[in-house]
Amino acid sequence: MVMAIEKKPRVNDLETLFTEDEIRNRVRDLGEEITRDYAGRELVLVSILRGSVFFATDLARQISLPLSLDFLSISSYGEDSEGVVRITKDLEENIAGKDVLVLEDIVDTGFTLKYLLRTLGSRNPKSIEVCALLDRRARRIIDVELKYIGFEIPDKFVVGYGLDYRQQYRNLPYIGVVKP
Ligand code: IMP
Ligand code: MG
Repeated sequence: MVMAIEKKPRVNDLETLFTEDEIRNRVRDLGEEITRDYAGRELVLVSILRGSVFFATDLARQISLPLSLDFLSISSYGEDSEGVVRITKDLEENIAGKDVLVLEDIVDTGFTLKYLLRTLGSRNPKSIEVCALLDRRARRIIDVELKYIGFEIPDKFVVGYGLDYRQQYRNLPYIGVVKP
């Protein structure tokens, strides 16, 4: 058997911010809260690719309600293109009349989310709210309302549990800070 050891992320360059256990506990609490809030409603979870996939699949399993799960992929034009975002893979289902909960990995400046909420909001959902795993409030430029927040984090770049640095580290089961 050939082991692809050389392809593993260099985890020694990371400092743990939230452990696997801490994430699991927080996601379970969020799931219970959402279960209470959305009882009797038509919940659609919208997972923003690719960063929120791990969070979305874990969270969905902690929500004890009938729900549907859909995916949306966006790309922003480069580093200094704040606010310029486009949809590269749209939702499969019509969200008109549905209670939409957008799942994001991290909200930083808020530009991405603002664009998404404007775009999805124009499709006449019954309601639209946001559940963000991480909130880096110190860098917010555009004010966006987050109904649910997993953790607030300091002004540091994080990876793991879906979050990447140049497409690497997404598969780490914990969230870490990249050491400078
Ligand atoms: P915003 O538009 O500035 O709020 O950027 C949010 C998006 O940038 C997130 O959905 C992530 O894809 C990405 N991002 C922001 N901060 C980080 C980070 O610390 N690690 C990995 N991705 C990040
Ligand atoms: Mg993202």
